[in-house]
Amino acid sequence: MRLTTDKVRVRVPATSANLGPGYDSFGLALALYDEVEVHATIDPKIEVKVIGEGAGTVPTDAAHLVARTVLETFDEVGVPRTGLELTCVNAIPHGRGLGSSAAAVAAGVLAVKGMISDPGALAPATVLAMVARREGHPDNAAPAVLGGLTLAWAPGPNAVRMAIHPDLVAVVAIPPTRLDTRTARSVLPASVPHADAAFQASRAALLVEALGRRPDLLLDATDDRLHQEQRRGVMPDSLALVDALRRKGVAAVVSGAGPTVLVLGTGDSARLLTEVRDVFGPVMAGWQIREMQIDTTGGLVEQL
Ligand code: HSE
Repeated sequence: MRLTTDKVRVRVPATSANLGPGYDSFGLALALYDEVEVHATIDPKIEVKVIGEGAGTVPTDAAHLVARTVLETFDEVGVPRTGLELTCVNAIPHGRGLGSSAAAVAAGVLAVKGMISDPGALAPATVLAMVARREGHPDNAAPAVLGGLTLAWAPGPNAVRMAIHPDLVAVVAIPPTRLDTRTARSVLPASVPHADAAFQASRAALLVEALGRRPDLLLDATDDRLHQEQRRGVMPDSLALVDALRRKGVAAVVSGAGPTVLVLGTGDSARLLTEVRDVFGPVMAGWQIREMQIDTTGGLVEQL
């Protein structure tokens, strides 16, 4: 394998995993993007410029997640390593449950796909497997790569895209604080009561119908007994917002491992935004509440 293009631009969407009962399996791509220009250079230096989210905090050398992924993907497909100049324009907040690390890893793998002589070596299923293996969360990797609403399952990972009702709209409430996914996973119990497992199975199955055909069922379909309540102690404000919205009949869930809150509804997203703002009130300073279109294309690479 060799490089036939030395400069590409990649765009990868934010993703919201779980969607309530679909723990570690459901994922939704959101139209909030990280964009990376990747230039493979003869000069062996690795230089990374970051604009937007992560600027001033993430590494700007070979330790940067996109750079590291590009170099390791070169190794995997059998391309000699080069130097790299990366320019990252990031809109996905870090540590908020919106799939920023899956987006970074997907960007690295897709950049290599755009540069190599046989891009067929990185078909979508291979890209998905590489991203999920490196990043660890197929429920974010699948929508980041494929776009839309996805269901991922192990082993594999395998993933399918599922139908989304055209009226579905989303709002996110993003807190100012970060939560590490490892911390959020460390508070989960090793086992759950059988009755909760049965409840969860019914809601996860119902969620497929609600998201695809019957959004009127979203409130019931987004109910969860496996992870959200168990994580209340590490994100009390997020759970308070989820509770307050659900009491008003609004389908709110924790986005991924949190602490962002994802709100799903139908019709007019501006109305949903107002509903969320009304419930939210002035109490939680520093949160951003915004409408979010659903991304249906997934990660894209273009040659420059
Ligand atoms: N499903 C994972 C969790 C998040 O809730 O821990 C994946 O990003």
